Order: sequence, then C-alpha cells, then structure tokens
Amino acid sequence: MDIHGEKILILDFGSQYTQLIARRVREQKVYCEIHPYNIGLDEIGDFNPKGIILSGGPSSVYDTGAPILPRELFGMGIPILAVCYGMQLLSYLLGGKVEESSRREYGSAALFIDDDSDLFRGVRSARSRPERGLVVWMSHGDRIRKMPRGFVSIAHSDNSPVAAMKNEKRKIFAVQFHPEVAHTAKGAVVIRNFLFKICGCRPLWTMRSFIRSSVEEMRARIGRRGVVCGISGGVDSAVTAVLIHEAVGDQLTCIFVDNGLLRTGEAAEVEEVFRNHYHIRFKKVDAGERFLRRLKGVVDPERKRKLIGNEFIRVFEEEAGKLKDVAFLGQGTLYPDVIESVSFKGPSATIKSHHNVGGLLKRMKLKLVEPLRELFKDEVRLLGRELGMPEEMISRQPFPGPGLGIRIINAVTAERCEILRAADAIVLEEIKDAGLYAKMWQSFAVLLPVKTVGVMGDERTYENVIAVRAVSSVDGMTADWVRLPYDLLGRMSSRIINEVRGVNRVVYDISTKPPSTIEWE
Ligand code: XMP
Repeated sequence: MDIHGEKILILDFGSQYTQLIARRVREQKVYCEIHPYNIGLDEIGDFNPKGIILSGGPSSVYDTGAPILPRELFGMGIPILAVCYGMQLLSYLLGGKVEESSRREYGSAALFIDDDSDLFRGVRSARSRPERGLVVWMSHGDRIRKMPRGFVSIAHSDNSPVAAMKNEKRKIFAVQFHPEVAHTAKGAVVIRNFLFKICGCRPLWTMRSFIRSSVEEMRARIGRRGVVCGISGGVDSAVTAVLIHEAVGDQLTCIFVDNGLLRTGEAAEVEEVFRNHYHIRFKKVDAGERFLRRLKGVVDPERKRKLIGNEFIRVFEEEAGKLKDVAFLGQGTLYPDVIESVSFKGPSATIKSHHNVGGLLKRMKLKLVEPLRELFKDEVRLLGRELGMPEEMISRQPFPGPGLGIRIINAVTAERCEILRAADAIVLEEIKDAGLYAKMWQSFAVLLPVKTVGVMGDERTYENVIAVRAVSSVDGMTADWVRLPYDLLGRMSSRIINEVRGVNRVVYDISTKPPSTIEWE
C-alpha cells in the first residue's frame, strides 16, 4: 500500500497555525504536505490530493496584495476545507461578500451548530448543551456578509451569522474558527469528518508503514554504497541513524564527535545504544581538547557558536575522509525545517546554523539522505519507539549543538566544564527523581562569570554561582519558567553547594521568553 497514495494538500496563507493543521491531519494517519498558496494549479494537479485545506492567514481579502487563489481551484472536483482567511477568500472569489466585522473576534467564542449532517457529525454530543454552544477558537477581523451562490450556513456564532458554511454538491466546506487548535473543543472530530467522510481518505500513514516505505526507498537510492552519519546525542540524529541502519546495515558508519561540551555520562550512553544495542558501526572521536584549544579566551557567544560549529565540521570531515566508498551523508532534517525554507513568508532564521554542512557535501562529493524530512518532531519520537529505541533517548530534552559551551558564560576552560557538568548532573537527577523531567521543555544549570562571598565552616569562601533554569515551552519560541517546588529547589541548591567544589551559591532563573531567551548566551 502506498502510504503517500491518499494525501491532503494544505495551502498556506501565513497563519501561525498552519503547521498545527498538518499535525492534526497526520494524527489521523493521513499524509499531508504544506505548500505556499501560490504553487499553481498544475502542481496541485500533479500532487493529486484527496482533499485541500486552505489555512488561515493575517491578511484581509481587501488588502492590496492579499494572497489570492485562481478561481479554477474550486472547480477541480477536489473536496476543500477552508479555514478562517481561507473561508473569506473562498467567499470573495466565488461571488459572496466579506465585510469588516463590527466586533473583531479573537480567542474563544461559542459556536452554534445548525447542521450536523457531514462536517459537524458527532461534534454536538447528546450530553453537551447545545444552547451554550461549542467552545471554538476564533481569530478574525472580517466576516461573511453574503455567502456565494450554492452555499448554505451550517453554524453561527454571536458575532457571525455564517460561522461555517458548505456547498455539499461541490464538497466545499468553510469554517470561521480554527479546528486545529487545542482550544477548539472537538476540533479533531471536524478534521476527522473532513478527511474520512468528505474526502474518503483511509488511515494509511502509520509509523510502521512509514518505516517500510522509507527503508525501501533508501535501499533503492543508496544501493551498495556507503553512508556516513553524524550523531549528536539528540533524538533527530539518533533516529535518522537507526532508520538508515535498518535500510542498509553495515554500509552505515556513525561518527560521534565528543566535543568535551557534553553532559555527564552522555557520550557513554550514546555509545552503549549504538554500539552494543544496535551493533551499528560507530566511531567515537574524543576531540574535547581540540575544542577547548579553539575556545581559549573566547567570550563572545556567537563566536563560540561559530568556532564550535566549524570545529565539528573539521573533525567530522577528517574522520569521514578515512572511510572508504562513502557517497551519502545522513542528516536529521525535519519537516518544520523544510517548510521554513519554502513557506511563502520566505526562509526564516534557523537555529541549526552549526549544522551547516553545505561545504562538507561539496568537498566530499556527498549526497544527502534525509529520511525524516517528512516528519514532525512528535512523529520522530513515535518512529523511534517503533524502531525499539530506549525511551531515555527518545524523550530527551533538547540540548543545544554548542553544548555546555554556551552555558559557561564567558571563557570556557576544562575546569569550568567540570564544575558545570557536576552541577548540571545534580539538577537533572533531582528533576528526574521528582518525576518532572518529561513535563518540561528543558532543565539545566548555567555557570556564571561572577564570584560571590560565602562561608563554609569557619572559612570565608569566594566562589562561583550556578543558575538553575527550568522552562516549559511548546516549540522553544516562547517559554515560561517552571514553578518548581521550593523543596526541590532547596535540595538542588544544597546538593550543588555541598557536592560541587568551587560553587558556593545557587540562584533560580525566573525570566520568561520573550524578553529573555532560554539559554543565557
Ligand atoms: P533560546 O536561547 O534562543 O533557545 O531561547 C531556544 C532553543 O534553541 C536552543 N538553542 C540552540 N540549539 N544550537 C542549537 O542546536 C544553538 O546554537 C542554540 N542556541 C539555542 C535552546 O537550547 C532552546 O531549546
């Protein structure tokens, strides 16, 4: 069965929720892709979708330069679900009228369903109280004043007589609210109805079938040639390597560069999983001293990042150069990285700059293998589990490529690495013991460049300060500090001060992002 055989096309009008639409569709085991709204009818025809979802977007259809679709799209016989801006655009293009709403609706609103025969089937449960409406998430300034010919209203809100509408014959549906966001009750049911009842999709996109199809594809492409893969200790590169190994076995060699900026036990753990559990060809390079030499006296965070990134490439290239018959480089690119670079808003800044391997590919004449290119992060975790990877590795918190190098404020030295590593291990141990590790985005220690006075026994001390950072976040773009229990903070503090030589003070970082960042450098 072709897992890409029945797919949904999402046309992006720049909504902050477009990726969420894709994730909600994938959760129903239906494959989908996001493309800019202006990809053109031919390309849409070639894509051959079972259905199209038009995303929301920040524009108003009357703005000059507002993103517009060719009207012919609505005559292609492909079922369509238009969300928010998509709905207004559809009305505008098909002869309806859109007007500025007297009251803009942002946030939650009550939706009253007037027809639950198809899109809203099962949304209004017998137990719910229809007179109160359904809680949905709205975010719009315009509303539909007159529907296009052939459309009927299927739901209203206090502020919009047409909060959803349909043209049943043409299988075109539109909703003013956002079914993809978690705040919309039963949003998943609306999406399920569209996918299965209206488009006739089947749930073919499972991680098991993904593995099968990806393995077949890689075998055909790689043939008997060699693949090299850099392992960072993070989830993406680990899953990439295990999946490539599934496809080509010993043709894969993994290179793990220990840059001396890793956390306690990390290198050993990675080695254990790759070498002993999966029997993957695995080369560990102890390059800590090289990195430290490069970093000597460097205090500027961006320079540290560049130096660490460049040195990584250099070490990696030296090691890869020793391998014979290597033709491919495996890389853990994920779908959000791919969308970021094609979205109609244009390429946005990417945090993965240290993974910039363009030069390396050219010099070594390698081609990229990116088996996770179609996956979201949560799918990568599912995939890892399906591949039998240890939970420890799969649900690991993100860790920056430059490692402890950007958590030792100012100059990095071997001694300061040791201090931070020891303090960080205590933070993580305590957080894990409290059962909080998996509930937060990141938790770690930072070594500050100030010394403060303390007293230990009868002696005055003048030692380092450790800052503890624990944040919750969905994607790292915004973050809040975690309200850790005082007892836990107290335990961390006294353990760090007692067990880590060179530290006599611990502080807790209570800043949000923005305006602060998660990392201190
Ligand atoms: P900030 O500090 O910008 O971090 O709020 C957001 C997320 O990105 C991670 N981060 C990095 N990851 N290389 C990486 O691979 C980097 O240079 C880098 N800087 C920050 C950070 O850990 C957080 O998850």
